[in-house]
Amino acid sequence: MSNAVAAMRQNYLFLLFFVTFLRKIYAWDKPCLTRQANTSYVCVCSATYCDEVTREKPKLGTFYTYTTTQDGLRFEKSFNLLTQYVDDSSEAAYGDCNILEVDPYTRYQTIEGFGGAVTDSAGINWKSLKDLRLRKNLVESYFGRSGIGYNMIRVPVGGCDFSTRPYAYNELPVNDAKLGNFSLAFEDYEFKIPLIQEAMKTSLEPIHLVASTWSPPLWMKDPSEISGLNRLREQFYQTYADYHLKFIQKYAEKDIPIWAVTTTNEPLSGIMSLGHNNGLGWTTKGMGKWIANNLGPTLRKSPFNVKILVGDDMRFTVPLWFNTVLDDTPEALDFIDGIAVHFYYDDTNPPSLLNEPLQKYPGKFVIYTEACNGIQTTPPVLLGSWERAIKYLKNIIEDLNYNVVGWIDWNMCLNSEGGPNYISNFVDSPIIVFPERGEFIKQPMFYALGHISKFFTRGSQRIEINRQKCCNVDNVAVVTPDDTIVVVLYNGDNKHIEISIKLGDGIAAVVLPPNSIVTVELPNFV
Ligand SMILES: *[C@@H]1O[C@H](CO)[C@@H](O)[C@H](O)[C@H]1NC(C)=O
Ligand SMILES: *[C@@H]1O[C@H](CO)[C@@H](O)[C@H](O)[C@H]1NC(C)=O
Repeated sequence: MSNAVAAMRQNYLFLLFFVTFLRKIYAWDKPCLTRQANTSYVCVCSATYCDEVTREKPKLGTFYTYTTTQDGLRFEKSFNLLTQYVDDSSEAAYGDCNILEVDPYTRYQTIEGFGGAVTDSAGINWKSLKDLRLRKNLVESYFGRSGIGYNMIRVPVGGCDFSTRPYAYNELPVNDAKLGNFSLAFEDYEFKIPLIQEAMKTSLEPIHLVASTWSPPLWMKDPSEISGLNRLREQFYQTYADYHLKFIQKYAEKDIPIWAVTTTNEPLSGIMSLGHNNGLGWTTKGMGKWIANNLGPTLRKSPFNVKILVGDDMRFTVPLWFNTVLDDTPEALDFIDGIAVHFYYDDTNPPSLLNEPLQKYPGKFVIYTEACNGIQTTPPVLLGSWERAIKYLKNIIEDLNYNVVGWIDWNMCLNSEGGPNYISNFVDSPIIVFPERGEFIKQPMFYALGHISKFFTRGSQRIEINRQKCCNVDNVAVVTPDDTIVVVLYNGDNKHIEISIKLGDGIAAVVLPPNSIVTVELPNFV
């Protein structure tokens, strides 16, 4: 060790002592009230207590880490000092994994945001919490400064399976091509709009809403069934476009701007008759024509600035709902802004599929619009599952490393059964409500998502990480609009792993506990 480095270390030690002292005086964060469950812990929130974490902006020469572990830490914040990189080629100086080098000059996609879905069920569960402070804690947990920084919401246009009944707007009179009787539903006024408005009041950034139709009214469809094989009747192509515009208008009247619409939720189900979910099937030719002749022109001529996202279906359908639709109808390209993807079956479909549209059409973007765990499993809700958290985390890291710009989770909160769902398609959620006990719990999934969503703010750009020298630690990095570097790391091993993040000639030395997620934030000084 040179004298200069030794002197630096001494100063750092003093500073470290001083800062630790300061942190004891100011209690910045509220720790998770843990309750052991399954393979990890849940955090319990009541009307009077809910865990909080504040993001600190690191000053030059310092960095922060936030650590979540299987054995109970949640966003454990730690203040640290950068050290000087020493090129003494003794690899041991930088721990077993050596160095992960970030390169803020090599930049990729710009981050749009993260969020969850306000389904009828999410709204019903949120409202089932009778104490208004408890409702506030839930919204703050997702959208607030002390929460995980959500800035996106997906909202169903009409009902979906996470409703207590199948419904669409303007169901009567039938064959009403002009939609003369279009109005929002009880569920919009009672559940979805109040939750969205509360989120908008709480969020640090404008919330970008993605609206998706599951099924239009039955009279638009052939056959007139809520689920199963069906198509839009051709005489109602324009009506179905107007149906979207009317929804956008009605939400605008409530001061809720819609940022994007998808071109129907999971259209493959309506081609292959998968499940009993509300749906509408499309052929690629029909979809292209509808976008080019109806939906595209209708939205572009409207006073609303709304993006159009195709797909809204599994990863393996990306080439179908984008490339094939465009092969059939190239004119649709003018109206398509991006491709929406759902996370199911990603294990068996390579992430390279996500890049197919981007290679041919670099101006378009890919965004995840739905994900959940617990589909058709017993039980659907698994309190405290660490594995489900990691499934989310690994998927988000992979998607971001394949240029995805955002990731929207499914129901923002469910009850302990995983519903309500009128066809009993119960699933898990990062927040589960227990109205009878006056509390809700945050699952490990909540923190896995939060390790990214809280820090990868809108406008962040993914940057290159030199992964050559690093062992088996999943990682992704961005530079934020505040000009900080954020690196998210996942250690799936049962042992500690030492990582040295190198930025220019600075080193952020980080120890990853066994089975942990660590977010590292340091100032960008190169
Ligand atoms: C976690 O839940 C799963 C599913 O119910 C169960 O098989 C497993 O044994 C549980 N693990 C622990 C440690 O409780
Ligand atoms: C208009 O819709 C409402 C439900 O929103 C329904 O009760 C009513 O019968 C409809 N009107 C006509 C003329 O079909």
